[in-house]
Amino acid sequence: MSRVVIIGAGLSGLTAAVTFAQAGRASLLVSMQPSERAQSVLAEGGINAALDTMGENDTPAEHFADTMRGGVYLADENAVEDLTENAPETVRWLSSLGVPFNMQAGHLIQRNFGGQKKKRTAFAKSSTGKMIMTSLIDEARKYEAAGLIKRYPHHEFIRLLTDGGRCSGALVRDRYTGLCAGIDGVVLLACGGLNGMFPGMTTGTTQNTGDAAAAAFVQGVELSNLEMLQYHPTTVGIPGKRCLVTEAARGEGGRLFIMRGEDRYYFMEDRHPELKNLSPRDVVAREMFFVRRELGGEVYLDMTGLDSEVWKTKLPDLREELISFLALDPKESPIPVREGIHYFMGGIRCDRYHRTSMSGLYAAGECTSLYHGANRLGGNSMLGAVYGGKAAALDILRRFPDSSEGGEIRFEEAAGEFCEPADEGLIMQISGILLKGLGIVRNEQVLDSCIGELDVLSRARQYNAREGARLSLARAMLISAKERRESRGAHYREDFPERNDKLRLEGVVTSSGGQITHRFEELPEGKEENADQA
Ligand code: FUM
Repeated sequence: MSRVVIIGAGLSGLTAAVTFAQAGRASLLVSMQPSERAQSVLAEGGINAALDTMGENDTPAEHFADTMRGGVYLADENAVEDLTENAPETVRWLSSLGVPFNMQAGHLIQRNFGGQKKKRTAFAKSSTGKMIMTSLIDEARKYEAAGLIKRYPHHEFIRLLTDGGRCSGALVRDRYTGLCAGIDGVVLLACGGLNGMFPGMTTGTTQNTGDAAAAAFVQGVELSNLEMLQYHPTTVGIPGKRCLVTEAARGEGGRLFIMRGEDRYYFMEDRHPELKNLSPRDVVAREMFFVRRELGGEVYLDMTGLDSEVWKTKLPDLREELISFLALDPKESPIPVREGIHYFMGGIRCDRYHRTSMSGLYAAGECTSLYHGANRLGGNSMLGAVYGGKAAALDILRRFPDSSEGGEIRFEEAAGEFCEPADEGLIMQISGILLKGLGIVRNEQVLDSCIGELDVLSRARQYNAREGARLSLARAMLISAKERRESRGAHYREDFPERNDKLRLEGVVTSSGGQITHRFEELPEGKEENADQA
């Protein structure tokens, strides 16, 4: 029986559903929110592909090299090769669906983004995610009408159904009626990042609670590289979250400075002369942290030098957002910025075909740890989500060709494991501990004390299954950070400030019977032929 159940209706899930539909295969799209409200609509700056529209002789090989270097060589090389080779076709496909990318003289324009040596980021003003999602939603509607996509918005993933160690489906719940249904089939988790572990501190939506990954984890699915949290250098605090100030602002000429005495000190230009303000995010975020510690005061982003045409055609939404949230016009004055949690490079462990450690279970998009290693390049997230959703769907089509419909889906009263929500107070306590241990600068002593605090909290009372899973996930994150005794990408250990290439290994965590174990695994050898093309 190979019904396909997709959990998450953002870029990855939606692309997967469309890919199945194009192959004539039906899928179910289960999501907490309708696609229109998915995290993906918040993505601003753009999507990378070596389309070479800017006369710089860009190539997928250079995109590959920048992605590997940016991720400090912790990503799966074969997967990154698939991603970057297929990026031009991916962006052309989106364009064919009607995404209104910025164009000039019949060609897509591409902008500079962090950590990349060529202009490679295609964009639709400063609302690229919203524009891509709008086109994909439209495309999906066509197939919905043909009965090839069935949506279940406002439905929540509760847990995996398993049968002898393999995944046989998903238990989902209607958030309004509270009724649950066990849906059998191959499952693709496309449930986004772990934002809900850090309420108020991420640029992403906390509707991506992390509960799906946490449930899968305690059900035996391997996660990896959980220590790799990306702090985006330029965010501003607004009620309930960090608001992203897109990297495109620096791509279009914005400059970071801090006051040193009476003068503006453009520290990135001084300390990182090659890529300056567009150095990889981990480098910029760390430098901001250090320069603040050194000189005191706030770091500012100065966009006053951008010309009116750039504001009008390339960054209009950003300006509007800053005026409404901060009552500051970035065209007129620099804005104070701080680092904010933006992306989770770690997550559900999967191979280049998006197969997880549990047979019958796939994962794609931000919930995985595949393409971005120790630090993701801006513009590679939407690419990873779209390409990943497609790659996962193609592998499912190949390996599970039987398209029989499966048993009847019946929603009924259900109580039991994972149905109870996690207590808000507990979520805040866990988040407080994680923020202490997993800041921009880490060390073993603090990590040990955070693990201790979490242990005390875990013993304090009885927890329901969801709370228990969150505690386990939090513990796995802290253990992962403790065990990586080196500095690499987003993981900076002041007690091990150098990179150690003996640790160019994937940090894998597993949970079994309440015990969490961590081990390092070799990364796959590069240059393995993709089975699709073999
Ligand atoms: O800064 C940004 O626009 C973010 C883009 C990304 O994370 O890919």
